[in-house]
Amino acid sequence: MPQFARRILCIGAGHVGGPTMSVIAARCPQYEVTVVDVNPERVRAWQSDDLPIYEPGLLEVVREARGRNLFFGTDVAAAIDRADVIFVSVNTPTKTFGEGAGKAPDLQYWEKTARTIVDASRANKIVVEKSTLPVRTAHAMERILNSNRKGIHFEVLSNPEFLAEGTAVRDLEAPDRVLVGSHETPEGAAARDVVVEIYANWVPRDRIITSNVWSAELSKLAANAFLAQRISSINSISALCEKTTADVAEVSRAIGMDERIGPRFLHSSVGFGGSCFKKDILNLVYICENYGLEEVARYWESVIRINEYQKRRFVQTMTHAMFDTVADKRIALFGFAFKKDTADTRESPAIAVARKLIEERAVVVVTDPKALANARADLADVPADRIVFEEDPYVAARGAHAIAILTEWDAYRTLDYRAIFDSMERPTFVFDGRNLLDAKALHAIGFNVFPIGKAALKHF
Ligand code: UDX
Repeated sequence: MPQFARRILCIGAGHVGGPTMSVIAARCPQYEVTVVDVNPERVRAWQSDDLPIYEPGLLEVVREARGRNLFFGTDVAAAIDRADVIFVSVNTPTKTFGEGAGKAPDLQYWEKTARTIVDASRANKIVVEKSTLPVRTAHAMERILNSNRKGIHFEVLSNPEFLAEGTAVRDLEAPDRVLVGSHETPEGAAARDVVVEIYANWVPRDRIITSNVWSAELSKLAANAFLAQRISSINSISALCEKTTADVAEVSRAIGMDERIGPRFLHSSVGFGGSCFKKDILNLVYICENYGLEEVARYWESVIRINEYQKRRFVQTMTHAMFDTVADKRIALFGFAFKKDTADTRESPAIAVARKLIEERAVVVVTDPKALANARADLADVPADRIVFEEDPYVAARGAHAIAILTEWDAYRTLDYRAIFDSMERPTFVFDGRNLLDAKALHAIGFNVFPIGKAALKHF
């Protein structure tokens, strides 16, 4: 049994905990890194080569460290007792019941984890918040942890994760920054140094920044709110472009070249999705309301409102273009994941688009290279005669009146659209919710093309 310099534990083997710990283990063979989860199936998947999440490059990283210094298990209590540093990465979904339903985060898993840590610990430990949480959650956690009667001290830090899905490994290996929030006490500073040391094994020192705990917690919410706000801003402009024949891509390019604005996250789309943006903004709105900051709450809420509007608008454009009825028309949705290179469909705009089309009595054919299993689960309640799931995009489009591009998978760029056109009904439509395809080329083939924020190219 090798002697490890430190024993690191992560509670929660999801999209954040799993990849983060895998990269720590791969980069730091001197540490023992354990990831535990209450869900045995998920743990078994992490122990196999069929990982529970799809991330480019992740399997290689896991294989490098697994069994050497990276371990996955379900025995939470034993793992807590062994660890010096405990990262907590459990889910904090939006509350579906009681006060704050639909807005406030549901902290029950978080609090249960704190109590499990107290019960299983026999020595001082550093507890690191990795989940995205409302500001001052660490305070509640500290209260629970440090009210123990065993004389054990728990130092709570906030180390928010900024990785994006689909690029998790790259984001972890070369992060823009790592943020470690701690209390300004000697114990806080000592704990902060321990966590900084872990990252300093591969992240340049000047990219590891420190702050107080509350700033760290709020920075995560604010960063996601700002990113989402950029997308809603450009999407609001896309609506105006469609009315005025301005081109949103040209507008994005022009404003993004201003160094103060920058080019990224200005790509107009059918709407943002993913597990973070909406949830984090709702958190922010809820906190602001709690502090009586109504104007601030309304400001951030409008980011979500524009996103809902964009999804609705997309389906309205489809219906209107197809002669104000899609009833019994076959419509192929190309892509269901909330973005490319992931199987994740949480809050995917494709869910809203599919449901609205089905409400209009269309027959929806969903295709996606990775996300079909999740799509089936998301649409499990839809009557079987209204929905088809199909691996092959060529088969999905066969006999359809329209294709809607909902995820920007690279594979969709290079399909044989002439063959696809030949197999579809007339008149034939493409609604490009990601501005992924060459609209002029499709138009030349015979399609009626409706991009986002650009003039439609029609044959009638
Ligand atoms: C986001 C943040 O980027 C990450 O830092 C944080 O830790 C978690 O939340 P993620 O949800 O994985 O990451 O995806 P991201 O790449 O940010 O995309 C979110 C959504 O916005 C996707 O649906 C994407 O398609 C959409 N998007 C993104 C646009 O519509 N236009 C853009 O210009 C960029």
